[in-house]
Amino acid sequence: MNLILTKPQQIYNMQTEDKILLFQDLVKKSSREEISWFHGYCSALLSKDFPTHETSTNGHALAIKPTIIYGTESGNSKKVALNLQSFLKQKGVSSKIFDASQYPLRKFEKEELVFLIISTQGEGEPPASAQKFYDFLHQDGHSFPKLKYAVLALGDTSYPLFCKAGADIDNQLSKYQSTKLLELQKCDTDFEESSNQWINTLFEVLLKNPVEKKAVTNGISIEKIGYKTLTGRIIEHINLNDNQSDKETFHIAIELEEPAMYEPGDVAGIYPENQPETVKKILTLTGVDPFKELQLGKKSGTIREHLTKNLNISYLSLEIIRKYGKIVAQEIPEVRMDLQDLLRIYPIKSALEFEEILAILYPISPRLYSIASSPNAHESEIHLTVARSPFYTSEGLEKFGICSDFLGHKIQDSEIQFFIRKNGHFRLPAPDKDIIMIGPGTGIAPFRSFVSERDAKGASGRNWLFFGDRKFTENFLYQTEWQQFASTGVLTKVNLAWSRDGVEKNYVQHEILKEAEELVEWLDAGAYIYICGAKDPMSKDVESALRTILSQNKNWTDQESEQYLEDLAAKGRFQKDVY
Ligand SMILES: Cc1cc2nc3c(=O)[nH]c(=O)nc-3n(C[C@H](O)[C@H](O)[C@H](O)COP(=O)(O)OP(=O)(O)OC[C@H]3O[C@@H](n4cnc5c(N)ncnc54)[C@H](O)[C@@H]3O)c2cc1C
Ligand SMILES: NC(=O)c1ccc[n+]([C@@H]2O[C@H](COP(=O)([O-])OP(=O)(O)OC[C@H]3O[C@@H](n4cnc5c(N)ncnc54)[C@H](OP(=O)(O)O)[C@@H]3O)[C@@H](O)[C@H]2O)c1
Ligand SMILES: Cc1cc2nc3c(=O)[nH]c(=O)nc-3n(C[C@H](O)[C@H](O)[C@H](O)COP(=O)(O)O)c2cc1C
Repeated sequence: MNLILTKPQQIYNMQTEDKILLFQDLVKKSSREEISWFHGYCSALLSKDFPTHETSTNGHALAIKPTIIYGTESGNSKKVALNLQSFLKQKGVSSKIFDASQYPLRKFEKEELVFLIISTQGEGEPPASAQKFYDFLHQDGHSFPKLKYAVLALGDTSYPLFCKAGADIDNQLSKYQSTKLLELQKCDTDFEESSNQWINTLFEVLLKNPVEKKAVTNGISIEKIGYKTLTGRIIEHINLNDNQSDKETFHIAIELEEPAMYEPGDVAGIYPENQPETVKKILTLTGVDPFKELQLGKKSGTIREHLTKNLNISYLSLEIIRKYGKIVAQEIPEVRMDLQDLLRIYPIKSALEFEEILAILYPISPRLYSIASSPNAHESEIHLTVARSPFYTSEGLEKFGICSDFLGHKIQDSEIQFFIRKNGHFRLPAPDKDIIMIGPGTGIAPFRSFVSERDAKGASGRNWLFFGDRKFTENFLYQTEWQQFASTGVLTKVNLAWSRDGVEKNYVQHEILKEAEELVEWLDAGAYIYICGAKDPMSKDVESALRTILSQNKNWTDQESEQYLEDLAAKGRFQKDVY
């Protein structure tokens, strides 16, 4: 039989000369029935359940198309996942990539090659968008014997539960008879180098499948990542509450020395400093030389500098308390406490012992604050809305959180350093879309940014705000601005909930329940809905109120309403930034 290969050029190009000659020879020597059998065999090979060999232009082959799943809060894990995907692509390996919230869980048991990249949030929790995926892997009775996997965990060594979510997932998968291709990779905030190295190593392992071997970087450029420290000057530091109020919520306006690229919805990260009086008390208690230079981890400085800027000295974790007990050789009860109290109750015996203690302390971690300004309305400035709220220790002592206390004590004209953290999960929609914003207390901050931005850009979509705090006369944060936005029509509708003005608590969710019909109409018309502020119980109660109004107005079960909100979230029409 004389057969001329008239396949599209693209396919022809994929064959090597040898393969074509071999194929033509085979066909020439075969009967019609045999060719029909080849046809059936090749169709089966190409069917979706049959693993194929993907061959790259530079010769690398993978038996199975990998699935990359990432869980992220602020986009770092997504960046690493995209870097991995583009690296594999350059090597001729195509892969599927999913945000954990979008991953169809029912497909997991069919997976054969999965790479997971996940950060840790809260106190050792997975990112909110990855919670379902995380819970799924923690259910009983799974078995994934076909699965080969590798996990990269992003975290921050200043948190006691470093990279816990990633470690939990890695651990769970190993229980399900799956094959670990690489040991868990934990990455600190400077994750660029370690994640790039992981990607390289992973690829080497894939090629040798599954030999573990360290690889060297091959020069392929991977997108630069990391946070840039910016410096600014505080030009406004105002308590937004009335003098009568027992609350302090500061409006902090920072004038920028260099442009900071941010979008409404982004957050600023602040590295707090410990209060000078606390540092002074520690130095007095220990009697050490405050000017002695020490290298602690990657940071060098004097003991005073370490105590002021680099180390967490408050509310030490039980792990640190245990280590302290060992160093001072004393029995210490398992109770979290500040370094100052430990030193007072369980004193050290020498300056050297104190240096040992400094070496076990965690670095101070940055705190995040929603940016309350808009790049278009407040040019060259960044605004924050910071609550300095007291809490009470078990002995009834009034204390303040480290960073809110640090920011509360800042004064006008002082310098401040910060970084911008992108928050792709909390974004304004197209200008013609309607938005519903629910943000009691400091939850108001990003909505001031949203509305100012929409005002500055003349966006045509409607804007509805639900705000709440304790008292109308004392705690109406940015009152005059909201009144102005309402009078110019930028703010289409405002609902205010004052929790301590009446006998009964009135919270934002009570206003939502009152506005059930209209709110559902807005949603039906395509509105985007946002919640910002305290996670627990506020955001949970607000979500429950949203389910209630949906169930009532649409005759849905609670589950159907929950599904509707999940679908909205998947489409980016329901976004939360809660803490
Ligand atoms: C994305 C995001 C956006 C945010 N936006 C804002 C915002 O716009 N405005 C805002 O005000 N906040 C915001 N936050 C919260 C903010 O990041 C901080 O968590 C908050 O300011 C508290 O930090 P702190 O350092 O003051 O308190 P920490 O020192 O971290 O203390 C936190 C809590 O730990 C407990 N604690 C600490 N020390 C002790 C002790 N010795 N004994 C007993 N308990 C103790 C207390 O409950 C205390 O309230 C946001 C958080 C996130 C994640
Ligand atoms: N420990 C403290 O004394 C204290 C005080 C204030 C704030 N904080 C903390 O400081 C941070 C920022 O405070 P903030 O100003 O943003 O908020 P916030 O003071 O905690 O709350 C703002 C408003 O939300 C109300 N609220 C309380 N529970 C709610 C719920 N389940 N649903 C809806 N609304 C609810 C509050 O009412 P009520 O307060 O009247 O219940 C208040 O009117 C939060 O993390 C908060 O936990 C602590
Ligand atoms: C509020 C908050 C809590 C965090 N908690 C932890 C934690 O418990 N353990 C940890 O290792 N890292 C913790 N981190 C650090 C993040 O995991 C780290 O910044 C990571 O790079 C974020 O990646 P993502 O952008 O993909 O979410 C926390 C960060 C924030 C903002």
